[in-house]
Amino acid sequence: MSDSLTPTEERLFNPPADFASQAHVGSLDAYRQLHARSLEDPEGFWAEIASELTWTKPWNRVLNADNAPFYKWFEGGRTNITLNCLDRHVEAGQGGKTAILWEGEPGDTRELTYEQLLKDVCRFANVLKGLGVGKGDSVAIYLPMIPELAIALLACARIGAVHSVIFAGFSSESVKDRVLDASSKCVITADGSWRRGKELLLKNIVDEGIAGCDCVEQVLVIQRHGDREPFKHNWTAGRDHWFHDQVDGVSDECPAEDMDAEDMLFLLYTSGSTGKPKGIMHTVGGYMVYTYLTSKLTFDLKPADVYWCTADVGWITGHSYIVYGPMANAVTQVMYEGAPNHPDESRFWQIVEKYRVSVFYTAPTAIRAFMKWGDDFVTKHDLSSLRLLGTVGEPINPEAWMWYHRVIGGERCPIVDTWWQTETGGHMITPLPGAIPTKPGSATLPFPGIDAAVIDENGDEVERGLLAIRKPWPGMLRGIWGDEERFVNTYWCKWGGKYYFPGDGAIRDEDGYIWVTGRVDDVVNVSGHRIGTAELESVCVAHPAVAESAVIGVPHEIKGQGLVAFVIIRSGASGEEAAWRTELMAMVDEKIGKFARPEKIVFSADLPKTRSGKIMRRLLRDIAEDRPLGNITTLADPSIVEQIKVKYQSGS
Ligand code: WT7
Repeated sequence: MSDSLTPTEERLFNPPADFASQAHVGSLDAYRQLHARSLEDPEGFWAEIASELTWTKPWNRVLNADNAPFYKWFEGGRTNITLNCLDRHVEAGQGGKTAILWEGEPGDTRELTYEQLLKDVCRFANVLKGLGVGKGDSVAIYLPMIPELAIALLACARIGAVHSVIFAGFSSESVKDRVLDASSKCVITADGSWRRGKELLLKNIVDEGIAGCDCVEQVLVIQRHGDREPFKHNWTAGRDHWFHDQVDGVSDECPAEDMDAEDMLFLLYTSGSTGKPKGIMHTVGGYMVYTYLTSKLTFDLKPADVYWCTADVGWITGHSYIVYGPMANAVTQVMYEGAPNHPDESRFWQIVEKYRVSVFYTAPTAIRAFMKWGDDFVTKHDLSSLRLLGTVGEPINPEAWMWYHRVIGGERCPIVDTWWQTETGGHMITPLPGAIPTKPGSATLPFPGIDAAVIDENGDEVERGLLAIRKPWPGMLRGIWGDEERFVNTYWCKWGGKYYFPGDGAIRDEDGYIWVTGRVDDVVNVSGHRIGTAELESVCVAHPAVAESAVIGVPHEIKGQGLVAFVIIRSGASGEEAAWRTELMAMVDEKIGKFARPEKIVFSADLPKTRSGKIMRRLLRDIAEDRPLGNITTLADPSIVEQIKVKYQSGS
């Protein structure tokens, strides 16, 4: 799919001297030494990093690999991640430092110091306790990008409840699947949120989603929109509670639950190549140490930085690089509720100028959209505060990289292209900005502690092959909720249990630089969001007129990849293609969310299948990308391909 990427890129950008001279890791040699040391003595390396943080009881063993791949990190150690994100800073006299500079889409603002944030988290934690939520309970969070979202995660962590954040763009059915799978006892939501000037009614989506979910005992509702039409909600007495009622008079002190390093911190659902989304499990100790160090070194964080990650907390990027990692580093950060093009396409740059943002982290899909909107929206703002840029979520094409470098970074800011996943907890392959020269389109070299390789199916090193991780690392997932077998099979079976398999293809160039080319499984990356083709296919076949469906990913100018659904209509089904298309789109909105809408739905009489009945997606991709068709002699009916091609090209 995105295999067209080749490391023919000759341009090399050295870290600017003034950046390198102040950086945590300031030269390629220093990086190489650090990396070599981290692999020679991983336990010593990670113990040293972990010692920079607060523990209530030290660990007995840094890594227990006795029962691989069920690795344990910092075994016997006890802590609470909020002690490190909040109390530690207040105790060190940094309580007055700004933690969050929040801006709502309509322009309302809030500023929270670390001391206020700690109090808010404690109050929120006490509200949860008052509702009967305690250690080990699962709490679903469905909130817009308001400070209460970060506060809710931290409040769960404070009392040892396991949060399961559901991105607020998911539909009610997705809410239901996740709430049921995690057996969430409590759901935290808001009356609504703003998106491009429109008000979205979140509580209604939750109501619909949890109807019939017996596990849910309490729904806690934050008021974002106020008590006015159309925000009059159905209210289920005994179950639904306004947060502002509950928090009234509640203490702002709440002792942090003493957690084992391997107690669960959170679940986060992500798509795989088959079946339902998987609940990725992360635990307290290793995740804490890993997000702390990756935030510090990848973003070269310093006390004076104003950091801004534009992701939503609903995805792993927001968990690791809005909430836990930056806060463990006592950073001042911007949090923004809304869209990048509201009220106009300069909103992000206006925010950078207003808050003097110094470290900015966003997705390639956003960069491509800004490129398209034009430089004028950018250049009318003063971006001189920026010193470092980052990207995440999908491969960045060299053209977008160069634009980011030139127009946003003023040719002075290093760019960190960070490769990682929900499963890895934090950055895995990324430049350290003061140390590693960058090449547009390459995530460069592995982070300290990470042993990455590009290998083939047999495990031999190759130039172009599969990305593999050869050693465990603290931020790694600990499992898939409720499905040990799937955990082992998906990630650890490919090379006989020796390596972690992320599902990505990669190229390693002569400098050892890694170029991640994209997924090699049936997962499509649309604007940095993972969508399993199987999930979309099951939505399509739920339509009464649909007999069968095959979904593929195709290159998309802005989104990186888009989805195309090929659909066979049942013989004898009555109706019109235009109507089916509208109905199918509505079903995608309802069952997954609007962000999973296909670019195109192609109706055909049949799909290209082998004689044994297997759909040949490769041929569908050839059609979509207008390539000469590969070998079609194994097809049961070769004429099908031509028919689909005509259909595809006629635009229907
Ligand atoms: C997949 C993980 C990482 C947080 C956001 C997405 C792709 C991610 C890069 C990058 C090339 C990338 C991979 C990966 N990906 N970052 N810098 N270069 N590809 O997390 O939803 O778990 O998706 O995103 O394909 O496997 P996710």
